[in-house]
Amino acid sequence: MISFEHAAQVLLPPAPGAPYLRSNRAGELTLDAGGLAADDGRIVALQASAEADVHVDATGCALLPGLVDCHTHLPYAGWRAEEYEQKVTGVPYEQISRAGGGIASSARALGETADGDVLEQSRQLADEMLRHGTTTFECKSGYGLSREGELRALRLAVELEWQVEQTTTRTALLAHSVPDGYTAQSWMDEVEAMAPEALERASALDIFVESIAFGLPELERMGALASAAGVALRAHVEQFTTMRSVPVALEYGARSVDHLSKLHPDDVQPLAQAECAAVLLPGAELMGAEACAPGRALIDAGAIVVLATDANPGTSPIVSLPLIIGLGVRRYGLSTREALLAVTLNAAWVLGRSAELGSIEVGKRADLVLLDCPAEHVAYRLGHNPVAIAFVAGRPVYIRPDAAWRITQR
Ligand code: NIG
Ligand code: FE
Repeated sequence: MISFEHAAQVLLPPAPGAPYLRSNRAGELTLDAGGLAADDGRIVALQASAEADVHVDATGCALLPGLVDCHTHLPYAGWRAEEYEQKVTGVPYEQISRAGGGIASSARALGETADGDVLEQSRQLADEMLRHGTTTFECKSGYGLSREGELRALRLAVELEWQVEQTTTRTALLAHSVPDGYTAQSWMDEVEAMAPEALERASALDIFVESIAFGLPELERMGALASAAGVALRAHVEQFTTMRSVPVALEYGARSVDHLSKLHPDDVQPLAQAECAAVLLPGAELMGAEACAPGRALIDAGAIVVLATDANPGTSPIVSLPLIIGLGVRRYGLSTREALLAVTLNAAWVLGRSAELGSIEVGKRADLVLLDCPAEHVAYRLGHNPVAIAFVAGRPVYIRPDAAWRITQR
């Protein structure tokens, strides 16, 4: 048994068993002093236990559920720093993309990189994520751009899961960019053909709806495919262009709509009423000088708001959720509790894992992060990594050297 003692703050939900919490209820989360005990990988009590054989002195620390990054593009190969330089000096992403950069260039890199090297890069990124408190993350395909490539990416994601400490999930982003030689429509024929095999390794389907990618008819086809297969529909929408994708995604019962920088004001209310999460990606918005998603309006209207890194080699080479919290809080005007909810329970809901992950509740997995500061400092001390120790299933899997003294065996 492991016991956490004397924490200055423990983030607790208002009641156990909620699959998500609408973000306008984030104020009901408590951040009071306390402790907890875990045994056999699960939380067993919301107080410290003298009987434990491992004790964690959490004096002065905030104890949070392990952070959940529900939108990343791992595994991928290489980086695109030269594109970033083009972008910041004035070349629009759409132009870079049409000139063979963007997604197509990461697809070439993935195709040219051996499995072992892709896994090595992804493992290193997963490690960096762990040091920033991420104990669960999503992997996506999408840089395969062929049937074999997409299936390979999903296979590599399965192998990655075996090699990292975190829980991971897999999303088949089968419509990311229209591959050479196809139209959006003819590529969707391929997607329909490969979906059964892809879904042997993935629990969600995803599509990039954008002027440079796929349109609303393709979103409808992906939605129908997800419904028929009984998997979650996710969609990259309203990133650069207002396409009015959200009503279509809602019609197909999407689990999440992601980006939303150019969300139409009329789509705020319907999204806020739905069980579909609004996944905001402030890292991509900052790095791409994109418009700012209406995060505050979505929260006030009662949406299930989530923050994620969108970790990918193009639009958001960021893996730190504490940094994303800082950006999100500033950009959208979020309270500390709204931001924490957005990277824990609500993010676990997007991944279909909120019954076991995402909040500190008896019976849930003891995935936890211990911060070296109060929770309010996470957004405020922008760029500081507050993570002292990360635990997966009650086991410390990352210990910052200056926090090692906190763990004692008795
Ligand atoms: O989520 N928007 C589309 N897909 C990624 C970007 C992919 C890339 O540029 O490599 C995103 O931002
Ligand atoms: Fe993305």
